[in-house]
Amino acid sequence: MQKNSGRQYLSKRVATLKPSGIRRFFDISATMKDVISLGIGEPDFTTPKSILEAGIRSLNLGETHYTSNSGKQELRQAIANHLLELYGVGYDPETEIVATVGVSEALYLTMTALLDPGDEVIIPTPCFVSYQAEVLLAGGVPVEIPSRMEDNFELDPERILAAITPRTKLIFVGYPNNPTGAVASRATLSQVARIAEEHDLILVSDEIYDRLVYDFQHVCIPALDENIRSRTVLLGGFSKDYAMTGWRIGYAAGPESLLRGLMRIHQYTIMSAPTTAQDAALEALANGEASVHEMVAEYDRRRRLIVSGLNRLGLTCFEPKGAFYAFPKISASGMDDNSFAEKLLLEEHVAVVPGNAFGAGGEGFVRCSYATAYEKIEEALLRMERFMNRHG
Ligand SMILES: Cc1ncc(COP(=O)(O)O)c(C=O)c1O
Repeated sequence: MQKNSGRQYLSKRVATLKPSGIRRFFDISATMKDVISLGIGEPDFTTPKSILEAGIRSLNLGETHYTSNSGKQELRQAIANHLLELYGVGYDPETEIVATVGVSEALYLTMTALLDPGDEVIIPTPCFVSYQAEVLLAGGVPVEIPSRMEDNFELDPERILAAITPRTKLIFVGYPNNPTGAVASRATLSQVARIAEEHDLILVSDEIYDRLVYDFQHVCIPALDENIRSRTVLLGGFSKDYAMTGWRIGYAAGPESLLRGLMRIHQYTIMSAPTTAQDAALEALANGEASVHEMVAEYDRRRRLIVSGLNRLGLTCFEPKGAFYAFPKISASGMDDNSFAEKLLLEEHVAVVPGNAFGAGGEGFVRCSYATAYEKIEEALLRMERFMNRHG
């Protein structure tokens, strides 16, 4: 075989995927000393102790085997109880819940199970970097609907309606939102739900940050009513709420008619989610509540610090009510978001992510994660002040 880059062997779908805009910045910052990273989208907390211990206990008890494809029955039951208690929405643990390798796998399953080539998927942006890529991998067509800071980055039902074509199959909803920290109100979500009903569309609701809200009550879309539940795939996770990113555990819940499709792919590609992580997740649901409250209180303290700090520097930042991100506008620096992030990293060793990495509407903003220690955020703000004094 001739020596070559191998590129011509890649499928067209894979060849069209752009490398994630986030990775590039991590690669640069990995080569530098003394970097304060506001770039990373994961909790700085270690997984709470009782959850860690549940994982260790599971291993010591010899729980080292596959579980049933959809996950341990006790875990599926615990997820069903959790959703019923928190949001009043019911799922049958036998047929309507599958434990997955994080929400990432649940996203992949949902797109692969529901999309045919050419199907259009409406994606409000800015959004988590994987949505568009997952749609493309499944042969679908992402249709981005940018939201705006002036509207608190909330969903705009009118614009969703205007984007619907005969090829539209799904609408993505992801609140609390990565990267903006926006949340969605019950009234707006109800309007989007009505649109989905009227146009016979499926809703995919990524609620991975559901517990990380500040002075706001999270609205779980499938809990709105039974008609909505019957056309929604709910993606839920442990990574953010319980600081469990490395365990790789999450779930999808939805009506049996849709979940059956997800399960068919899951059983051939994954078999079952990691057994240790399933046992740890069970403990998180049983006894993790106090830890969630403690972490939310600390995120809230940091949120107030970073939002007021950024605004003071002229980096206008609307008040995020969820997740752990601030999304300031950086026009006062006179730079675009790529140059801002690159210069800030090189000159002041502070890593943030350019907003355009998150799709249309993100240009001119940067994502600053406050899932990092309070003192580090204070230091980052001092460095950013120096930076803005030079460039603002
Ligand atoms: C909105 C959103 N969904 C899903 C994920 C993936 O989460 P998991 O670790 O459960 O795969 C992330 C991770 O950053 C995210 O921000």
